[in-house]
Amino acid sequence: MNILAFAASNSRKSINKSLVTYAGTLLENHRVEIIDINDYPMPIYSTDLEELHGVPDAAEQFLSKISNADALLISFAEHNGNYTVAYKNLFDWASRMNMKVYQSKPVVMLSTSPGPGGAKSVLELARNSAHFFDGTVSASLSIPSFYDNFDVDKGQLIDEGLIAQLKSALATIDTH
Ligand SMILES: Cc1cc2nc3c(=O)[nH]c(=O)nc-3n(C[C@H](O)[C@H](O)[C@H](O)COP(=O)(O)O)c2cc1C
Repeated sequence: MNILAFAASNSRKSINKSLVTYAGTLLENHRVEIIDINDYPMPIYSTDLEELHGVPDAAEQFLSKISNADALLISFAEHNGNYTVAYKNLFDWASRMNMKVYQSKPVVMLSTSPGPGGAKSVLELARNSAHFFDGTVSASLSIPSFYDNFDVDKGQLIDEGLIAQLKSALATIDTH
């Protein structure tokens, strides 16, 4: 299967990008493409801009990446309990072109943060709203205390229990 993977963060040092990249290495039997949402730059969404210029091409390019994938792997960064502005903006523009942003694809949703909460709030938000956007969440997993549980130099999770949980979350992709 073709898996499209990305972090819902625009940080160049994104820990969610590290996590999603590691998770991608565990999907040995699939082709994984990791994209960076910085490659889909768009102005802050406004109805005025949309009326004047329409939806930017980058939104269509993002939607087409999703359309070409068989499944999605997303790791959500949390800002104040919510999506990062960067992902919300990309998502809002994309939804103006196609409300079914996730296009019936199975989605494995991850999240992490440096704190013990592991960005659970945004993960819940993403999971609970996915059906509005035609997404089927096959599994979700939050990794707490990123710097305690992830070896940044090796680019991998340390804790065996979390590795096992991640592997079983990823295995749900095979059942779709
Ligand atoms: C504006 C802002 C708000 C944040 N709010 C939260 C939060 O609500 N919960 C949380 O766990 N971490 C929060 N953090 C810390 C982020 O989890 C941390 O910056 C993390 O590295 C973001 O993920 P990323 O590196 O993938 O972008 C916040 C950080 C910023 C800059």
